[in-house]
Amino acid sequence: MSSALASFQETARLLYAEASPLVRFMQRGRPYICPMDLLVRQVPAGAQIFDIGCGSGLLSLHLVRTNHIRGSMGVDTSSDAIESARRAAANLSDQLRGRTQFEVVNGTDDWPDSQFDAVMMIDMMHHVPVSIRRTLFLEAAQRVKRGGRLIYKDMRSQPVWRASMNRLHDLVMARQWITYCPSETVREWAGEAGLKLSLHQTYDALWYAHELMSFDR
Ligand SMILES: C[S@@+](CC[C@H](N)C(=O)[O-])C[C@H]1O[C@@H](n2cnc3c(N)ncnc32)[C@H](O)[C@@H]1O
Repeated sequence: MSSALASFQETARLLYAEASPLVRFMQRGRPYICPMDLLVRQVPAGAQIFDIGCGSGLLSLHLVRTNHIRGSMGVDTSSDAIESARRAAANLSDQLRGRTQFEVVNGTDDWPDSQFDAVMMIDMMHHVPVSIRRTLFLEAAQRVKRGGRLIYKDMRSQPVWRASMNRLHDLVMARQWITYCPSETVREWAGEAGLKLSLHQTYDALWYAHELMSFDR
């Protein structure tokens, strides 16, 4: 096991020990299907981050637990996910606990007005209705400080068999028929928002096909 994977496993084991069996299983399994170590490398050390669609908070909490970042603000539309994230954050040391915040949001109006060193959108866009994707992305881009970074990762629509396997995953786990957001469209929106592509990488794990893009301001 790589040291990055072992470190994520430790975060999942320590922080989600009292979570439901399903949440525990999902957090422990997440680093096997998602390139978490690649994501960590894109996050500037000491950053204050905004994690949009943070889910149960594994990535944010790992970054705080390992002292990679100064602090995190995570938002999600799912109150169950935010509840899991808050419970996990309660298991951080006294010194680190106050460096995380998790909030339920109903839309971008509920997002903080402030800007961050890094804004993360990890595996959330394929869950977002097509009609609001552009607005949501542009609102996220607005929260990136000058010199800051937007880290965007989503599932690829190609090859079709991998995309179909991921659709099946989301049908079972999220009970949602997801649609993919083309990376060219995301790059266009980023250009519109004045962000420059600094990394574009694909990655396959098991049957999942990932695509990571970093945009700098
Ligand atoms: C596959 S999970 C990814 C969670 C986390 N980012 C990770 O990588 O482990 C996608 C999350 O996006 C959230 N989500 C979907 N649409 C959203 C929206 N419009 N605003 C905020 N969160 C959203 C879902 O509730 C879900 O928790």
